[in-house]
Amino acid sequence: MPGQPPTSVTRHWWKEAVAYQIYPRSFMDSNGDGIGDLNGITARLDYLQDLGIDVIWICPMYPSPNDDNGYDISDYQGIMAEFGTMADFDRLLAEVHARGMKLILDLVVNHSSDEHPWFIESRSSRGNPKRDWYIWRDGKNGAEPNNWESIFKGSAWEYDQTTEQYYLHLFSRKQPDLNWENPEVRDAIYEMVRWWLDKGIDGFRLDAISHIKKEAGLSDVPALEGQAYGAAWDKMMNVDGIIEHLDEMCRETFNRYDVMTVGEANGVSPAQAEDWIGERHQRLDMIFAFDHVGLWAEDEAAGLDLSQIKQAFGRWQTGVEGFGWNALFVENHDVPRIISKWGDAEHYWYQSATAIASLYFLMQGTPFIYQGQEIGMTNTTFGSLDDFNDVAAKNQYVQMKQQGVDDAEIIRTLSQTSRDNARTPMQWDAGPGAGFTTDRSWLALNPNFETINVASQWRDSDSVLGFYRQLIRLRKAEPALIYGRYRLELESDPQVYAYSRLLDGQHWLVLVNLSDRPAQRRQLPWPLHHGRLALANYPVEPHPAEDTLDLRPFEARVYRLND
Ligand code: GLC
Ligand code: CA
Repeated sequence: MPGQPPTSVTRHWWKEAVAYQIYPRSFMDSNGDGIGDLNGITARLDYLQDLGIDVIWICPMYPSPNDDNGYDISDYQGIMAEFGTMADFDRLLAEVHARGMKLILDLVVNHSSDEHPWFIESRSSRGNPKRDWYIWRDGKNGAEPNNWESIFKGSAWEYDQTTEQYYLHLFSRKQPDLNWENPEVRDAIYEMVRWWLDKGIDGFRLDAISHIKKEAGLSDVPALEGQAYGAAWDKMMNVDGIIEHLDEMCRETFNRYDVMTVGEANGVSPAQAEDWIGERHQRLDMIFAFDHVGLWAEDEAAGLDLSQIKQAFGRWQTGVEGFGWNALFVENHDVPRIISKWGDAEHYWYQSATAIASLYFLMQGTPFIYQGQEIGMTNTTFGSLDDFNDVAAKNQYVQMKQQGVDDAEIIRTLSQTSRDNARTPMQWDAGPGAGFTTDRSWLALNPNFETINVASQWRDSDSVLGFYRQLIRLRKAEPALIYGRYRLELESDPQVYAYSRLLDGQHWLVLVNLSDRPAQRRQLPWPLHHGRLALANYPVEPHPAEDTLDLRPFEARVYRLND
């Protein structure tokens, strides 16, 4: 355990932890049906422990018709048959704990599956006691109750023949939104949450949690010319009053346990973050902020603008300083692989993977690694529409088709933006099935598994995996890299992302050339020649002159300046 944190910051186990996200369908298949499962995860725990992981977050593993791969839950207290049984889960949890690690689950309570018994009852008649557990409305002039667009495209409303009303679904039509204004719904959710916490899990990642409150009245949004539906963000994301829901949930559940919570809180700004993660309120511990993700989610063609990246991270680093804590990440199951966006998978695969790792991992916050990121997995290749699995990609296809875009262009766009890029199976080795399965995998393997895989990097300290292992060790050994204050350096440098971490007179410096060109800098503000090089992704000569720096393409270095 590192030394003392600064007095202004409270110390917590989850601040010192390194977290790892597992997409269970794609992590490890233990029984040869091509689908990852819980016993597969258990079989790979030694790998995670060896890497230095403290907390494992598993994406939904509950029963689900899999319209959105588990994010449409039909039973909150069960295990998807394809993934195993509750006994398998209990064993997984015990094995995680036996290794001194923790396990957090995905809590998906903005919506359920339309096949959840609650919804089946709710839709059965207008007078059903669970009718008001979901959001039902009459149509307007023979059309939807309003013109909100679903986050997965198309209308956010679905007509139900039986009772001749529409229900709201912000995501797919098989994900009806729960009605959080109904206290019975909230109580049922809290009871379920406590049931898992009593089982001994160590916390939750809260899915789509900034959407649980909708603006009263559900009024229309201004839609664009010629478009039937419009994005309704300010009416269904981080809406006034949401904090009351959050507050109640935390009081009724998490705050009664020593657990960790991280919210997927799209739309929450650093200025609003105090309400969500201000430690004095005892609400969530951290939230995932998406400012930096937004920089590549939509416009693939736009080149890398380092100043925007600095701002996106920086506004959170400095924005929550002193009252809250960040969740650090560059990948998850919803975004393409980071090397394929910020790096150069073709010419500087190793260098860019490790440069990006250095860039985000040593900021202030709890770092999350998404499965496969630690071996430098990249976006995959898609030949045709049939290669896509994701409901969001399929809906987007329909929409682009309606707009008259041709198939080749649609596939090109989806290839770069689709969430399926992050969901190809984990690449364990170069054998058939990539060590993930002995059968055909549910989603095609990325063809580069023969070169990019765990087995080839496992004991090689000069591999991407070896670099992550060193990063983890370094962060754990140095309180300044956990608790230290973040300060941006070389602010307007267009190639180099440089920042300091400062704690009790200690000064650490992270230098990353996030470009494929060399970066020569003179008259630096820090005495590099007095520093100790703690980590680098290129061989580095002892420092030649006082204030010069020659960084090669995607070179990253970490210095301790005042040993
Ligand atoms: C979150 C999840 C995403 C899912 C959506 C609906 O954004 O990360 O995968 O599709 O919520 O549950
Ligand atoms: Ca399986």
